[in-house]
Amino acid sequence: MRLSLALEDGAVALPDEGRVLLLRPPAYADLSALPLDRCVAVQPFRPDHDALAPRMAVTPDWPEGAFAAAVVFLPRAKRLARDLVARACAAVPPGAPVIVDGDKTDGIESLLKDVRRAAEVGGAFSKAHGKTFALAAAPMPSGWTVEAEDADGWTTRAGIFSADGPDPGSVLLADTLPPLKGAVCDLGAGWGYLSARLLEASPAVTACDLVEADADALSCARANVPDPRAAFHWADATAWGGTYDAVVCNPPFHPSRKADPALGRAFIRTIRNVLAPRGRAWVVANRHLPYEAALGEAFAQVDVRAEAKGYKVVELARPKRSRR
Ligand SMILES: C[S@@+](CC[C@H](N)C(=O)[O-])C[C@H]1O[C@@H](n2cnc3c(N)ncnc32)[C@H](O)[C@@H]1O
Repeated sequence: MRLSLALEDGAVALPDEGRVLLLRPPAYADLSALPLDRCVAVQPFRPDHDALAPRMAVTPDWPEGAFAAAVVFLPRAKRLARDLVARACAAVPPGAPVIVDGDKTDGIESLLKDVRRAAEVGGAFSKAHGKTFALAAAPMPSGWTVEAEDADGWTTRAGIFSADGPDPGSVLLADTLPPLKGAVCDLGAGWGYLSARLLEASPAVTACDLVEADADALSCARANVPDPRAAFHWADATAWGGTYDAVVCNPPFHPSRKADPALGRAFIRTIRNVLAPRGRAWVVANRHLPYEAALGEAFAQVDVRAEAKGYKVVELARPKRSRR
């Protein structure tokens, strides 16, 4: 909405010709004022990618070819935001417009301050607790562009879940798991911590499917889980199928940027759907998250196996008849 108003108002402008690079537009973004027939979106998050695909060209990876302008949709992670601005500037000719749109809660004001030190910025358009501004593309400070990095021996990158190292909830879950066997699914596998730990501890596991919506996280998982039993799936876990002897999961509760425990509950329903009748699942969650009712609806057996540091691990068995 704010971006459309800023374009219609003339506060920011795009050239009349040439391709426009859109970086991380969420599925819910208002793109109505953009020339979508000459836009290419980079969106590594599968549900957003699939929602955008019917409307425009979209790819999880960096697209080939030249661009006349770029629009950055501000992510919450500060280092990723800087990375996107630096890459947008490098993808267009010097001086070409790079538009940035974002909410105050995602840090648009501090980014604007930082960008002003490195590039010429037009007037900022303020609306709806956020800002849209355009800068003339220029090299951003060294260090803004991020690559895959090492976090305590694990490969991660800025912007993915728990990029600084293992999540304490996932550590608790991995420490609680008994040895597993057969086919295992890691739903919302992130950069692969749970799969790496369980494969190391469970020689009787025959296959481990890592299902993850964030292509950036999944590419880190490929580096972190070199085990040949692992298979990597860029997919929306809430629509995942199959039959597994065991499932492990640290469910998300933020679909893109909006906090919503409904996403965690959708994960719980998927676990119910894919778990074999005699299978077992282990789920970790913040103690305060309201998952009890969803767990009770989906499983006849729910046992708390560990509690520490605000997290609890539950073991789930006897999935109730699927209502898919
Ligand atoms: C709480 S993190 C856990 C990550 C990893 N299992 C770990 O323990 O470090 C939840 C993960 O689910 C992913 N995710 C969010 N929505 C998803 C969806 N609809 N389908 C698949 N993965 C999703 C996030 O990108 C994130 O990596």
